[in-house]
Amino acid sequence: MGKAHFGLIGLGVMGENLVLNAERNGYSSVVYNRTYAKTEEFLAGRGAGKDIVGAATLQDFVGALERPRRILMMVKAGQPVDDTIDAISPFLEEGDLLIDGGNSLYADTDRRVAELERKSFGYIGMGVSGGAKGALEGPSMMPGGTKAAYDAIEPLVRKMAAQVSDGPCVTYIGPGGAGHFVKTVHNGIEYAIEQILAEAYDLMKRIAGMNGDQMADVLAGWNETEELASFLVEITEVCLRTKDPETGADLVEAIVDAAGQKGTGLWTVVSALEMGVPVPTIYAALNARVLSSLRPERLAAGALLPAPPAHSFSLGEPADGMAPLRDACIAACIVSYGQGMALLQEASKLHDYNLNFSAIGQIWKGGCIIRARLLQRIQNAYSANPTLANLVLDPWFAEQINRRLPGLRQVVAGAALAGIPVPCLSSTLDYIDSYRSGRLPQNLVQAMRDCFGSHTYERTDKSGSFHTEWLD
Ligand code: 3PG
Repeated sequence: MGKAHFGLIGLGVMGENLVLNAERNGYSSVVYNRTYAKTEEFLAGRGAGKDIVGAATLQDFVGALERPRRILMMVKAGQPVDDTIDAISPFLEEGDLLIDGGNSLYADTDRRVAELERKSFGYIGMGVSGGAKGALEGPSMMPGGTKAAYDAIEPLVRKMAAQVSDGPCVTYIGPGGAGHFVKTVHNGIEYAIEQILAEAYDLMKRIAGMNGDQMADVLAGWNETEELASFLVEITEVCLRTKDPETGADLVEAIVDAAGQKGTGLWTVVSALEMGVPVPTIYAALNARVLSSLRPERLAAGALLPAPPAHSFSLGEPADGMAPLRDACIAACIVSYGQGMALLQEASKLHDYNLNFSAIGQIWKGGCIIRARLLQRIQNAYSANPTLANLVLDPWFAEQINRRLPGLRQVVAGAALAGIPVPCLSSTLDYIDSYRSGRLPQNLVQAMRDCFGSHTYERTDKSGSFHTEWLD
């Protein structure tokens, strides 16, 4: 047998599916896993009858690959990636390529690209989104590193990626950790949309008294609209419709209300804070998960801090798609994409990523978790204006926000009076109301800062820096 075209390290679900995807696309493969038993199990199971062989050692693995070697690492982010690089590097030769397809911190990828390039190897940090099914059938891929390294894997990843009408869902993202940064922000947007839909569910259940099937019917309708048709709306419908096989009741009601996270949402928010980009809707989603995990504290607080008296308000009717609630969700989803894209704009300037925002819109249209019909509009908006500061400044999106704001206001105001938390919806409203304000109350904040700390302030009527002895 000749040498294999493609190598995979790490036979987790994503790794297995990605190597099956590569093989299906004509790339004979060799796989390596830290425990060889897992390799044997895979070759005897899902890998049986495919053009895939296993290697028991990294040396044999490397030796089984044609040059330049294309090796995808699907190992846990963090130290395991460095350990794998250290273990395999002695066997690599000039021009060989390592691809990290996990959710690595972009700063780690920056470092690894520089280190590996110094050794004359190529290194690609590639965000991969689409879950297990996407990995097998075609994910959205966000590769970053040197352009030369990307060129060496381009034919492979273009075949493996999801395909949409205007091409495969993969493109060269930019240098260093650009690919992992874009994937991180993708996940931040994912957190926000998940939380927005969870808030809609909570309101439909608690205010409108709807059951899982009734809510799922509403979601099915939303999924027919240009503004909300998306993978996350689609799976929310499925989650709400699914019954507990043991009780026959809605399964979602049997699930503990504490959500975890693996880090990318946190990194999105941390980098946004560091770069001075407001992303309150994404931040609210992250906080909602963190707060949800304080379950014993919440139960104790509930006993001391009772809910306000019952308050009912209209979320609309199922027959009209729960119009105010739907509009609130549309506004919040648009703003979530907008905050993520604004963060990417800033990161692109700061790190010289030279991101192509229209292309990012294009590769998110298929395969990935935040794929949505709206991404065509996002792609159009950035094609028309590549330096658009914020999505809501695009005419089509501005019109959408204006149309959806009354519904958002109605829902947030009603939820506030009913004592139902809607952190993403209310943050979105605050964000829009702040962003569209020519005059914010930070003049008073500046006065206070100058009062206690002589931080000085600027005036509206003349230029310069001023200080007042406020306390005399
Ligand atoms: C992933 O990339 O693994 C998920 O899309 C995000 O995972 P989390 O919600 O566990 O952080």
